[in-house]
Amino acid sequence: MSGSTREMLFICLLLFAIGQRACVESTLNNRPIIGVLAQELIMESDPQLDPRVSYIAASYVKFLEGAGARVVPVMINKTDDYYKNIASYVNGILLPGGGTYFDTPGGYAEAGQKLYELAKKMNEAGDFFPILGICLGFELLTYLASDNVEHRASCYSYNEALPLEFKRGSFNSRLFGSAPSDIIGILTKENVTANFHRYCLTKQNMTALELNDDWRFMTTNEDSNGLEFISTLEHSRYPIYGLQFHPEKNVYEWRRDKNHPHSAKAVRVSQYFGNFFVNEARKSGHKFPASEEEEYMIYKHPVKYTANYTVFEQCYEFPL
Ligand SMILES: *[C@@H]1O[C@H](CO)[C@@H](O)[C@H](O)[C@H]1NC(C)=O
Ligand SMILES: *[C@@H]1O[C@H](CO)[C@@H](O)[C@H](O)[C@H]1NC(C)=O
Ligand SMILES: *[C@@H]1O[C@H](CO)[C@@H](O)[C@H](O)[C@H]1NC(C)=O
Ligand SMILES: *[C@@H]1O[C@H](CO)[C@@H](O)[C@H](O)[C@H]1NC(C)=O
Repeated sequence: MSGSTREMLFICLLLFAIGQRACVESTLNNRPIIGVLAQELIMESDPQLDPRVSYIAASYVKFLEGAGARVVPVMINKTDDYYKNIASYVNGILLPGGGTYFDTPGGYAEAGQKLYELAKKMNEAGDFFPILGICLGFELLTYLASDNVEHRASCYSYNEALPLEFKRGSFNSRLFGSAPSDIIGILTKENVTANFHRYCLTKQNMTALELNDDWRFMTTNEDSNGLEFISTLEHSRYPIYGLQFHPEKNVYEWRRDKNHPHSAKAVRVSQYFGNFFVNEARKSGHKFPASEEEEYMIYKHPVKYTANYTVFEQCYEFPL
């Protein structure tokens, strides 16, 4: 019996055991492709930046590639049909961090909303379609889940690396349920999560916005002023995950004036999150039309050196 047949048999038995009937389709997809959403530039923050492009920081792309996925850039300001097609082709979506607003017409949040609504529909219908939101992407997920109410608390956890404070029961979560004990040990004790945010989601916000039925949080942290904020969460039914910190920076961002944890343990933790999400994407059977797959790949786009004028070593830029 080949390895993948055995894997499939195992999944079949497991699915039968929990009464699911999706068994026959459930071979793992070992060629996962993940869509990474681009983002508009914010002019006030840097007048040198080119307003005619959107961008993706290359660290998010490498984070996924390092876990065995390929990446397709997902553009902003496109038609509903574009997002519908993309969502049916890729095996998951990563909503990166960044510094834009949620109300820019034709921007990141608008595109993110279309992808989120599609993902909810697909998952509701029994399809498997994961999303990972990092930092601003984490905030966008809960903003969308609150029907676009600005829910975030002002806070300050900028340029600090922190351990996670696990809530009781968080090891029953999907995100941490299968984590090796040494990963949990590192996350609990060491300063390995890179925080760069001025907004936070608090427990009060989750209650006020009635998010507690659909979402569960697993860890909290405190900002520089002692305000407690939620640092990881997952949807209670769908494979949708949020990390307030930046796992990709541990391995792929090197600014000397930034507190990016680069120890061997910090790298392992980063790879844990990358492997976790790409493993989720392997459960998705979405496929590009064979003749189109290559055209969409990020490999077709040049990566640009940006360390001398942004916080990122390298970025991809896309004309708007
Ligand atoms: C979105 O596209 C339209 C044309 O289709 C253009 O007029 C508008 O400026 C674009 N908006 C952004 C934010 O790029
Ligand atoms: C983590 O960082 C804090 C403050 O920045 C420091 O006090 C603490 O010793 C660090 N912990 C470890 C294990 O390095
Ligand atoms: C979010 O939480 C912060 C602090 O807990 C609070 O100041 C703010 O008003 C809350 N916003 C909403 C919409 O709940
Ligand atoms: C950054 O460096 C590149 C390559 O060395 C150079 O072409 C570009 O002009 C620099 N940009 C800025 C804003 O300094």
